[in-house]
Amino acid sequence: MSNNKKFYVTTPIYYTSGDPHIGHSYCTVAADVVARYKRAQGYDVMFLTGTDEHGQKVEINAGKVGKTPKQFVDDIADKFKKVWETLGISYDKFMRTTDDYHEEAVKKIFKKLYDKGDIYKGKYQGWYCTPDEAFFTETQLKDGKCPDCGREVHWVEEEAYFFKLSKYADKLIEYYNSHPSFIEPEGRKNEMLQFFENGLEDLCVTRTSFSWGIPIDLDPKHVVYVWLDALTNYITALGYGSDDDSNFKKYWPADVHFVGKEITRFHIIIWPAILMALDLPLPKQVFGHGWILFGDGSKMSKSKGNVVDPRILCSRYGKDAIRYFLLREFSFGSDGYYTNEGLIKRINFDLVNDLGNLLSRTTAMINKYFGGTLPKDRLSSGIDSELINFAKSLRSNYENKMDKYKFSLALSNVWLLISKCNKYIDETMPWKLGKDEKDYPRLATVLYNLCECLRIISILIAPFIPETAKKIQNQINATEEQCSWGKSNIWGVLDKNLKINVGEMLFKRLDLNEELEELENMDNK
Ligand code: MSP
Repeated sequence: MSNNKKFYVTTPIYYTSGDPHIGHSYCTVAADVVARYKRAQGYDVMFLTGTDEHGQKVEINAGKVGKTPKQFVDDIADKFKKVWETLGISYDKFMRTTDDYHEEAVKKIFKKLYDKGDIYKGKYQGWYCTPDEAFFTETQLKDGKCPDCGREVHWVEEEAYFFKLSKYADKLIEYYNSHPSFIEPEGRKNEMLQFFENGLEDLCVTRTSFSWGIPIDLDPKHVVYVWLDALTNYITALGYGSDDDSNFKKYWPADVHFVGKEITRFHIIIWPAILMALDLPLPKQVFGHGWILFGDGSKMSKSKGNVVDPRILCSRYGKDAIRYFLLREFSFGSDGYYTNEGLIKRINFDLVNDLGNLLSRTTAMINKYFGGTLPKDRLSSGIDSELINFAKSLRSNYENKMDKYKFSLALSNVWLLISKCNKYIDETMPWKLGKDEKDYPRLATVLYNLCECLRIISILIAPFIPETAKKIQNQINATEEQCSWGKSNIWGVLDKNLKINVGEMLFKRLDLNEELEELENMDNK
């Protein structure tokens, strides 16, 4: 593998204050798709995810259920790992901010910045909302309460250390201007620039009001607070600041950080400033994706009719259906609404009708007319070339979309070929050709062309729905080599006298009303 083909993709590290849900799954599935896509293209990929485990909220929530903070976060980190297994997430590393190497590296980073004069001691004062772990100024409060959640806030004054974020404001703007693809999608950049309007304030990076955090060596009653602890995960997980930093040397800078839109600003302001202060290169891109919203417009909701537990959805419909739905239904850069109906329809229309039927019709006909093995004699016709040309050019259109993280469009490109294939069946009418042996060479050609399309389709859908791709490849008896990325824009790869293995249906058709009722009942339990 050549050295310059490296790719480093990350998800945010998820807070361990609550259970994993479909919103977290969205970003993680997207990162998984990218990791699989890049691996297929021959990149040496590092795919990082993990959990963000410190903070007062964890301390409080653990206390409520009679656990130590460590027991509490161990349990939730395990839950995340299980959900990722259920969803088929192929991460290379799962990091936790309570891991020793991370804690050690954060201490070193802190010291380095302190020695350099980029961290200094000062006094923090403000209104603090404990459940949100957020400070507010007097003017930010809403009727004297937390502007985000409406709960009580209390006045806090404490000695704290600050990171000189203000020092980096001009450098950051300069960087955005000279690196136009640093912030994606485009619209997020304008949202971000407004944070610079009144300059940047220095950032408080330690607390003394709770102890569940990383204590700093020079003043151990202080623990590192939130962002300095969390953001640095992207480099500590690669061994930065440890004895073995070979992965850091190999993979940093990251090719892309996938983050939700509300935390984009931390990733494009605080994180690059920390890296600048450490004299390290900046990530190539921060992609701020949209939210999956629920009926009432909230980010997460337990409102009726929405079973949003990814484990339940996967056990009912299979991981591939959920992975497909998440990236086909929503456009990655924008918000979208989740509905059970949307999910069931995607499964029925796209996976059962379009893809599933194409495979089952093709293999059933090869079985019926040729006992499962295509004869060698062939007869082409003008109508074939349109299909073949479309299939051969599909990969480049698809890559074009994938490289911009336009997952839904990449998939709809593939589905165009699927519908062209179904149309090709209607037009060539294999059932007519099958009536007369003299038409068998033509029939064999039609069925072979369909298998070739299925082979190409299976390669391109594999990053999204890997199990389904494998099932298709097994049924058309295609080898791994025939299904390598390099073969996805080449025609005529399958054996001429292909022998297929008829298998089971890819996806089961669902009764919409029945499913909606079931899901709703589950939700109300
Ligand atoms: N711990 C921080 C991130 C630190 S990264 C150095 C955090 N954690 S979080 O658990 O609250 O959120 C993690 C991610 O999940 C965010 O990117 C957030 O946007 C995403 N999502 C949470 N709910 C979501 C939806 N309903 N839809 C899409 N993404 C959502 O913030």
